[in-house]
Amino acid sequence: MRLFDMVGCLSSAMDLVSPEVAGHHIRVGAVAFKLGETVGLPGQRCADLALAGMLHDMGAFALKDRLSTLAFESDDQTHPEIGYRLLLSYPEFASAAGLVRSHHAAWNNDSRPKTVFLPDLELGNLLCLADRVETLLPRSPGESVDRDFILARIRSGTGRMFNPWWVDALEELVDTGFLEQVSESDAIDLRMTIPDENNPLLGGKDVSRLARLFSQVIDFRCRFTATHSRGVSATSMAIAHELRMSGDNRDALEVASELHDLGKLGVPNEIIMKPAALDEKETATMQRHAEHGYNALSAAPGLEEVAELVGQHHERLDGTGYPHGLKGARIGLASRVLAVSDVFTAMGEDRPYRAGIELHKIVESLQELADRKALDPDVVSTVSARRHDLDGIRRHAQAQALKDFDHFSGTLAP
Ligand SMILES: [Fe+2]
Ligand SMILES: [Fe+2]
Ligand SMILES: [Fe+2]
Repeated sequence: MRLFDMVGCLSSAMDLVSPEVAGHHIRVGAVAFKLGETVGLPGQRCADLALAGMLHDMGAFALKDRLSTLAFESDDQTHPEIGYRLLLSYPEFASAAGLVRSHHAAWNNDSRPKTVFLPDLELGNLLCLADRVETLLPRSPGESVDRDFILARIRSGTGRMFNPWWVDALEELVDTGFLEQVSESDAIDLRMTIPDENNPLLGGKDVSRLARLFSQVIDFRCRFTATHSRGVSATSMAIAHELRMSGDNRDALEVASELHDLGKLGVPNEIIMKPAALDEKETATMQRHAEHGYNALSAAPGLEEVAELVGQHHERLDGTGYPHGLKGARIGLASRVLAVSDVFTAMGEDRPYRAGIELHKIVESLQELADRKALDPDVVSTVSARRHDLDGIRRHAQAQALKDFDHFSGTLAP
């Protein structure tokens, strides 16, 4: 698979968070890319702009308790910084990270020469323009693009908010009907045709590293879930080892473990953070995360198997799970391992309303679930037989992940 297919998954998952921002990341990526082409930037810089656009507000999902609002249109400087730091953990994203960091930086200097500077701050301002333009596009289907309104709004910031050079490029682009094209296409069409030389093929290791980065965006929304995906991934890999799983099946399980809750990016924060039981409506919204995750991942060629596992991680063998109430043989071994690892990890973690459950009680509960054929009895007996090892492996992985999280959130302290 190629880089942009994988990034598109995270981007489209983030765009599910609320109707007001539907399509935001994918469209900002498309606008930034096209602006880059219009001003004649080299292919790699255009690709960096597309990448940065598709990921630019990812920091607004992390540490949400410290941010007042999803800062899509504000001058908030925290989420660009968080996004920058998250992206740096994948070294190939260094250039895009620099752009994300400055995507709320105003141009603010009328006297600068009107020329293309290449440093991140300059190009970050182009991303800033793409971001603002996207927020001025119609949000409901059937509504038409108001070119004059958009240009008037943007022109009022020329030389102060935006580099005049970028605004000229926008005017040129608007004349070609590009904004109409962006606002009418669906997210998948907008995964721009980035030339292959700027859209590398990913090896298995690259996919795992990217999955790890994405899992941090999913987990860092609050401290209680900050290490969840890492715990699930360590547990499922240890079980896979015991069961002698190998090859593609094992690799898909690893990536799916990191990304199993990807669809939670589409669940509003009030529900994610609610320190009490969810009501019926909230439960239904929360449960949609399994399908959201499936939908985001299944659009990427090469991630079909991962998508299936993610879509099935809350299915139960007795048909009591969601979203489809699948039964027995419809649920493959890797999905069964993922389901057990998820429950095993979640029970061991502290929650706002309870402390982590003791190991012997976790194993008892898993056994009950296996007895009534909700969870796979063989997988559960493997866990039961190796409970202390697995507990150690899970704790170790989560302790490591917590260090990463503390380091990450600590560096953000004022
Ligand atoms: Fe932003
Ligand atoms: Fe934005
Ligand atoms: Fe889940």
